[in-house]
Amino acid sequence: MLLYRGAPAAPGTPRGGLARAGSVPQAFRIRLSTISPRYLQSNSCSHTRPFSAIAELLDNAVDPDVCARTVFIDVEEVKNKPCLTFTDDGCGMTAHKLYRMLSFGFTDKVIKKSQCPIGVFGNGFKSGSMRLGKDVLVFTKNGSTLAVGLLSQTYLECIQAQAVIVPIVPFSQQNKKMIVTEDSLPSLEAILNYSIFNDERDLMSQFDAIPGKKGTRVLIWNIRRYSTKRALNSQKQMEYDKVLFNIIF
Ligand SMILES: Nc1ncnc2c1ncn2[C@@H]1O[C@H](COP(=O)(O)OP(=O)(O)O)[C@@H](O)[C@H]1O
Ligand SMILES: [Mg+2]
Repeated sequence: MLLYRGAPAAPGTPRGGLARAGSVPQAFRIRLSTISPRYLQSNSCSHTRPFSAIAELLDNAVDPDVCARTVFIDVEEVKNKPCLTFTDDGCGMTAHKLYRMLSFGFTDKVIKKSQCPIGVFGNGFKSGSMRLGKDVLVFTKNGSTLAVGLLSQTYLECIQAQAVIVPIVPFSQQNKKMIVTEDSLPSLEAILNYSIFNDERDLMSQFDAIPGKKGTRVLIWNIRRYSTKRALNSQKQMEYDKVLFNIIF
């Protein structure tokens, strides 16, 4: 469940939520709204074409709070699966920020030196990535921590989740050891069981694909090869090999 990461908690007893410990008014004891896994797909339908979805991920990297100078967009074969990757050299994220990124409606963006942020609704990453593929891993490093997070329709279907669950695992950037939190171990298990990486060493090697000490890599697989119309009964194919390399950024 998105707001109760880890083991299910009773309604109205928030733990491990988006707010930091102690800041949730526990006294309310009223249940939180949750997000159905099906919403991931329906929310992505706002992108009738893949280009606007690609733009969401690109905008995130160049937004003033991230300030990437370079963004690589590639189609790569990873673990024998065609993947779409976005790798930037921006400021990266803490595990908590990554949690907010994989949640809905949270954005910390502010106007810096008259530079206006592009994304402001806290939804672009979710709608864009889920338009491009069914499953996504986000690898990020910010100079002191590494974190990986999974947003995956396949995973949620397999475990018959009733609400969106986002496994997130933080590691020390210095020694690459897992930082133990209340849900880091089950999150790592979920990622190794349900993503394309079933070996921790292979998973960790993705951090090396981010050049430098800071940056973020978004890896999307089970790429959606049909248009939103096809979801509404059209046959149009997504031809990444033809269209992607015709884009000049
Ligand atoms: N490539 C990235 N590098 C660092 N932080 C990112 C990146 N992409 C997204 N984020 C963080 O995740 C948050 C949520 O992203 P998104 O869902 O696109 O919403 P929005 O862009 O409207 O804030 C952003 O506000 C930003 O803080
Ligand atoms: Mg955005």
